Amino acid sequence: MAATVRRQRPRRLACWALMAVLLAHLLALSDTLAVMSVDLGSESMKVAIVKPGVPMEIVLNKESRRKTPVTVTLKENERFFGDSAASMAIKNPKATLRYFQHLLGKQEGNPHVALYRARFPEHELGFDPQRQTVHFQISPQLQFSPEEVLGMVLNYSRSLAEDFAEQPIKDAVITVPAFFNQAERRAVLQAARMAGLKVLQLINDNTATALSYGVFRRKDINTTAQNVMFYDMGSGSTVCTIVTYQTVKTKEAGMQPQLQIRGVGFDRTLGGLEMELRLREHLARLFNKQRKGQGAKDVRENPRAMAKLLREANRLKTVLSANADHMAQIEGLMDDVDFKAKVTRAEFEELCADLFERVPGPVQQALQSAEMNLDEVEQVILVGGATRVPKVQEVLLKAVGKEELGKNINADEAAAMGAVYQAAALSKAFKVKPFVVRDAVIYPILVEFTREVEEEPGVRSLKHNKRVLFSRMGPYPQRKVITFNRYNHDFNFHINYGDLGFLGPEDLRVFGSQNLTTVKLKGVGESFKKYPDYESKGIKAHFNLDESGVLSLIRVESVFETLVEDSREEESTLTKLGNTISSLFGGGTTPDTKENGTDTVQEEEESPAEGSKDEPGEQAELKEEAEAPVEDTSPPPPTEPKEAAVPEEEKATEKENEEKPEAQKPVVYRALVTRSGF
Ligand SMILES: Nc1ncnc2c1ncn2[C@@H]1O[C@H](COP(=O)(O)OP(=O)(O)OP(=O)(O)O)[C@@H](O)[C@H]1O
Ligand SMILES: [Mg+2]
Repeated sequence: MAATVRRQRPRRLACWALMAVLLAHLLALSDTLAVMSVDLGSESMKVAIVKPGVPMEIVLNKESRRKTPVTVTLKENERFFGDSAASMAIKNPKATLRYFQHLLGKQEGNPHVALYRARFPEHELGFDPQRQTVHFQISPQLQFSPEEVLGMVLNYSRSLAEDFAEQPIKDAVITVPAFFNQAERRAVLQAARMAGLKVLQLINDNTATALSYGVFRRKDINTTAQNVMFYDMGSGSTVCTIVTYQTVKTKEAGMQPQLQIRGVGFDRTLGGLEMELRLREHLARLFNKQRKGQGAKDVRENPRAMAKLLREANRLKTVLSANADHMAQIEGLMDDVDFKAKVTRAEFEELCADLFERVPGPVQQALQSAEMNLDEVEQVILVGGATRVPKVQEVLLKAVGKEELGKNINADEAAAMGAVYQAAALSKAFKVKPFVVRDAVIYPILVEFTREVEEEPGVRSLKHNKRVLFSRMGPYPQRKVITFNRYNHDFNFHINYGDLGFLGPEDLRVFGSQNLTTVKLKGVGESFKKYPDYESKGIKAHFNLDESGVLSLIRVESVFETLVEDSREEESTLTKLGNTISSLFGGGTTPDTKENGTDTVQEEEESPAEGSKDEPGEQAELKEEAEAPVEDTSPPPPTEPKEAAVPEEEKATEKENEEKPEAQKPVVYRALVTRSGF
């Protein structure tokens, strides 16, 4: 027996050695293949990774926690992040920054800036006149914009993910609140760039949660539409979303499950933080009362004591979710005086009574935007830490009129898991089962322009035109082309948000300017001079609302058509043209991007079709003076739109095959029009 064992051992050893070599090889191959997601909450971030051969999982931070505070302590020569920074909040409250996402992309006069100052008076907010935005003035020499601070946090999230994955990571999907507008989304992208992250997508956190829910219930999704409501109350804000799950036929993979965002309602400032601040104020009042007559200073003027009170308020709030009362207790709160006070849940609920009244608001808004009623919603699922507050659940349950609220997802981690699934789906290194995600536009976007018209001979007047480019609750990603077919000279058009009537006056002020940009076209007149004998097909502006919900103007071109004989000869007459695609608002870049303001007109050799075929969103042509508004909420059309489908040369070839050699065929000339003024 013993002899047999000896003979087998070397073979086993060889086998292990071979496996080790193979594993090492695999690891080498999989180097840098891991991708990550960050659910970027206002209070904490949840990071997840996926790497070859390992299931998607939540990253544990250095303290082995699954949530990491979005907190940074900035000193002259040192920076602290996460739990270390959170523990510095009391010793060094002025240098410890939290909840700064509320300031992203905000100008000085924005109500969120005033709110931040009121909530955290220990921080000095300066104003950068050049960028027109606020920054943190840490010391006379040290200042950081909220984007820079977020960049540091994202960089830290990457280091946590890399340590956990034991390999470098570059690609990430980052969550943003669904209500983030263009400026806020761009601010997050800017922060990610500073962190050296390649953003595969900014995904709305409600969509990421819905994706996670759908992926784990794939088998329950069938051809019958099921509507599910997610109610997410986090620390900073509340979002209510209505999602329809259904299987749909896809071109590439047959029947697949799909989620479609149907309705979204939100309250930008309703969340756990505001409840905590109410409790802190209550505790501060109690402490001041206890010390009345002792000549003591107001505790509110002591940032360290206020930081201690905020931490205690957070603890107290959490305990009161499970207990009817609790003793708040802080040793040496101020001037070495201890603080002790009993707080009941009833008192807490009274302090936050007006906040609880706001709980149904996002539900109503979501239903309105989805044009649905509650009977059509099958279940309501709780997401986010603050939905653990019993009163929130009580008010919500009453508002939705259901028997119970769904607690069947991980309220803290679903968004991070959904986002990492999306990261794996977008990364070429992984193969995941398809799950179609159709997100929806919250803020409609319009193109507006004013044109001189002559309605009666000799009587000229200005006519203001509005065209909906992306309608509210329309799907994205999506490309759109607008054709201006009555211009033969340079002109301007404005890209504005559309009707934001569903926002309250305060939210409108938070929103800032409703003008996204003004596009000044140059070279239109030149193009008409260049092709005097050809028929103008209009000035076409190509827009893209990408998967991150970020708008860009891809190109503007002046299109002419003429009929010519024999295609081969005429093809050579198409003047070759560099495809100068430039992006709007400094968003994306292409190597050939021309500076704005140059009066150039270029012809295109062969322009891509209006909208790439890969785009899941529909492409539509909006014509100036179009009779009917463009329908842009329907599912992607089964066939390509007529004019957009085929590159012009291909069209020409098709025709050539059909017709006799001498037949005439249209040739299209595209002159790229540049723009200036933004
Ligand atoms: N048991 C509990 N009782 C009451 N509140 C709780 C409980 N657990 C967590 N919270 C609160 O939930 C909030 C954090 O929730 P979450 O992690 O979902 O927020 P976030 O993602 O950081 O913020 P947001 O999504 O609003 O940007 C905090 O205010 C926290 O105090
Ligand atoms: Mg959150």
